[in-house]
Amino acid sequence: MHIRNTLTEYGLISKLLHWISALLLFVQIPLGFYLVSLDFGTERITLENIHVTAGLSIFYLVILRLLYKIFNPTPKLGPRVFTGQIFLAKLNHVLLYVTILSITISGILKKLFNGETFTIVYQKIQIQDNFELGELFYDIHVISNYVLIGLIIIHILAVIIHKLFFDDNLLKKML
Ligand code: HEM
Ligand code: HEM
Repeated sequence: MHIRNTLTEYGLISKLLHWISALLLFVQIPLGFYLVSLDFGTERITLENIHVTAGLSIFYLVILRLLYKIFNPTPKLGPRVFTGQIFLAKLNHVLLYVTILSITISGILKKLFNGETFTIVYQKIQIQDNFELGELFYDIHVISNYVLIGLIIIHILAVIIHKLFFDDNLLKKML
């Protein structure tokens, strides 16, 4: 197996980054919803700390993936089955990256505008608090999560539809 991507195949680095990000998101999304359903107390504080640490890890991972994409070829999508298919697949991938960035950045800004100090890439950051903006970024955090869930469902359905109706095993490309 190649370590790096070629124009036809994903390499080991891309595959690892894809599956580690997916695994973290499959835990992080339910964790976020569970967290807000809890009453205030030590369990909620502990889980919020875990949520923030996992969220920051996902943020660094997506930046790493995008940097990796700039300096490495992305395998071409397979032969198209219907018009606009490649456009839709690319749109799904771009929107997945955009929503993950939107969720993580809005999470960070919500906490910063609520007056909390934050360490990002070894830099301690604190800004003037502004609870209205804190609320706004929290709304963005929640809405982006619903959009991400929709995009992940479409992403997985596309893989299933390709296998069932077009006998095209896309999953093989990512394993
Ligand atoms: C949280 C969940 C997931 C996210 C955020 C995600 C995100 C992505 C992104 C952004 C790409 C494009 C990679 C690139 O830049 O070229 C991609 C490709 C791919 N993903 Fe996922 N993915 C997730 C889960 C899954 C799952 C569960 C499957 C399997 C059913 C899957 C199968 C694939 C395949 C087969 C490709 C390659 C598509 C192709 O090149 O034709 N992904 N994924
Ligand atoms: C991709 C990464 C992330 C995902 C999928 C995610 C997901 C979620 C979800 C689903 C909720 C529940 C929203 C609701 O229904 O009210 C939530 C809440 C929250 N998230 Fe995230 N989040 C992520 C990253 C972050 C980051 C990076 C931070 C901060 C640095 C953060 C801070 C918070 C906070 C403070 C809450 C509210 C907790 C509370 O009110 O007790 N999240 N998140």
